[in-house]
Amino acid sequence: MTSEKFKLAVLVSGNGSNLQAIIDCIEKNYLAAEISLVLSNVKDAYALERGKNHGLDVVFLDPKIYPNRANYEQKIIDLLLSKSIDLICLAGFMQILGKKFIEAFSGKIINIHPSLLPAFPGLDVQKKALEHGAKFSGCTVHFVNEEVDGGPIILQSIVPIHDEDDIESLSKRILQQEHIIYPEAIRLIIEDNIEISGRRVLRKIKEG
Ligand code: GRF
Repeated sequence: MTSEKFKLAVLVSGNGSNLQAIIDCIEKNYLAAEISLVLSNVKDAYALERGKNHGLDVVFLDPKIYPNRANYEQKIIDLLLSKSIDLICLAGFMQILGKKFIEAFSGKIINIHPSLLPAFPGLDVQKKALEHGAKFSGCTVHFVNEEVDGGPIILQSIVPIHDEDDIESLSKRILQQEHIIYPEAIRLIIEDNIEISGRRVLRKIKEG
């Protein structure tokens, strides 16, 4: 009997280095999954090229041709449902998802954010961490709920902030950790190793 692979959708808007990290982990058999869809809301996102280079199904959906955000999101929902996606990975997807979308895939959407949440939610967070004078920052993989960057935290990684850092050097250091913990978090979900308990994500205690 052949078992169906765990199906990922990766939603992107930009460079796609996190998408690449996920692709690499699948190709190295670290992740027992397949990427069934790479979806971008930005036409020239380099992430689409990365997907194509690996023979993936890549789609650009232009938000501008839909009358409103709800219609646009419905189109994405329909596409994801048609492909029986098990997990939706937001990887630099620059659009806030609405209630309907989040409810349609409850507990099945995760995001990577370049700060140690709950510090510095939102945009330009490497700049904000530097300006604030933080000595450490990092990255967070979390489930997506209706609170922006506020869902239950799956994994985090800490990076130091050095005196000589600028946005570029700090972003680079954080991204290196993103590429490690995003696939790790996906693996925890694929292997059914975690459960959500209130705000907390806990390791499941396995019998035997
Ligand atoms: C990453 O810093 C991620 O944390 C944030 O957007 C950036 C995406 O980078 N959400 P990339 O497109 O994966 O290279």
